[in-house]
Amino acid sequence: MRFLIAAALATMTCETSSAQEMSYGEAEYLNSCAVCHGLEGKGDGPLGDVLLKRPADLTRLSKLNGGMFPYSRVFGTIDGRYAVPGHGDREMPIWGRQFLEQDEKLYGPSGGEVVTTERIHNLAGYIETLQQ
Ligand code: HEC
Repeated sequence: MRFLIAAALATMTCETSSAQEMSYGEAEYLNSCAVCHGLEGKGDGPLGDVLLKRPADLTRLSKLNGGMFPYSRVFGTIDGRYAVPGHGDREMPIWGRQFLEQDEKLYGPSGGEVVTTERIHNLAGYIETLQQ
């Protein structure tokens, strides 16, 4: 899976490198999420074709939730560490664990947790801006 993500990202970077100033959440989204969820969040990234389950359309989360952006659900889905086992296999990677592995190397165990949480907040905030 890591190889597939890397390969798909390599083909996408030329499309995204023209973006000038972007928010941290947007940069992180393009790095980690667009490969499945698509550049605009519509669930049409190149890796979506090889998954059993289509990646969610992230632009319609508010619409499908009665007009309210489901912030904590989105946060929890991205983090993934608190998902209930037994609710089936996720096709979506567990970002909380991956981010924490990287962040603990740089900031230590408690600093790492703070940075990881902040990264997920930035992502959830960015997805909120994609709502249509
Ligand atoms: C390997 C492909 C893949 C990658 C990479 C990926 N996702 Fe997903 N995502 C999915 C799939 C498939 C679903 C559909 C639900 C499931 O499988 O649990 C999903 C569901 C979601 C949902 C739930 C939407 C809802 O209805 O509540 C959110 C939010 C989300 N992804 C955000 C992200 C973010 C943010 C990133 C980047 C940090 C990301 N995804 C990276 C495949 C991916």
